[in-house]
Amino acid sequence: MSFDLPDSVKFGLNFVHPIMMWLLFAVTLYALYSGIQTQRTRTAEGEVKKQLIQGKFRNKHYQIGSLLLALMILGTIGGMAVTYINNGKLFVGPHLLVGLTMTGIVGISAALAPLMQGGNAIARYAHITLNVSLLGLFGWQAVTGMQIVQKILSN
Ligand code: HEM
Ligand code: HEM
Repeated sequence: MSFDLPDSVKFGLNFVHPIMMWLLFAVTLYALYSGIQTQRTRTAEGEVKKQLIQGKFRNKHYQIGSLLLALMILGTIGGMAVTYINNGKLFVGPHLLVGLTMTGIVGISAALAPLMQGGNAIARYAHITLNVSLLGLFGWQAVTGMQIVQKILSN
């Protein structure tokens, strides 16, 4: 199947996914920050705890986490769609495979939320471990992603 879009549209589409993913990188860092503050709120005592509670980090973390889940799924599908529109195929390389892995990880991580809210410590450790790997893989995607951007610009 081929897509009869104007060349300028096809070229412009190339930048939607990279820009969106850089913004999502910032969202992930904020998720890390609000997650750590959630943990501190849970474990703190006395005056410090009172102060932290006012930050409503648990709520903020849940909301930013849900946003991350939704946008990462859409961003991955979008990256694959644009690749297919422009090349008539996908490139089964590191960026595609790591991207799909990350989308799986973020889904499992979010699915652990009800268990964590029930106080399940294993779910909490799994959530943290999965998300630290997510952050590491994101750094890798940024490198391979910018290599793809350079390839597109040099063509
Ligand atoms: C952080 C910076 C990132 C940059 C600069 C970037 C850049 C790109 C570029 C330029 C493409 C080619 C399609 C297009 O032109 O739109 C692409 C494809 C793709 N991206 Fe990203 N990306 C990034 C992060 C991510 C992340 C975090 C994921 C997944 C969680 C992801 C998943 C994908 C997938 C699945 C494709 C299709 C690859 C293929 O089929 O060959 N990307 N990316
Ligand atoms: C996938 C989307 C995400 C959702 C839906 C989500 C949701 C949650 C929920 C419900 C909790 C438990 C809060 C509580 O009741 O105590 C939590 C805790 C936490 N999350 Fe997330 N989160 C997400 C992504 C992330 C990411 C990307 C990171 C780090 C980069 C992260 C790091 C943490 C940390 C450190 C905690 C604290 C655990 C503790 O209290 O010991 N989360 N998250």
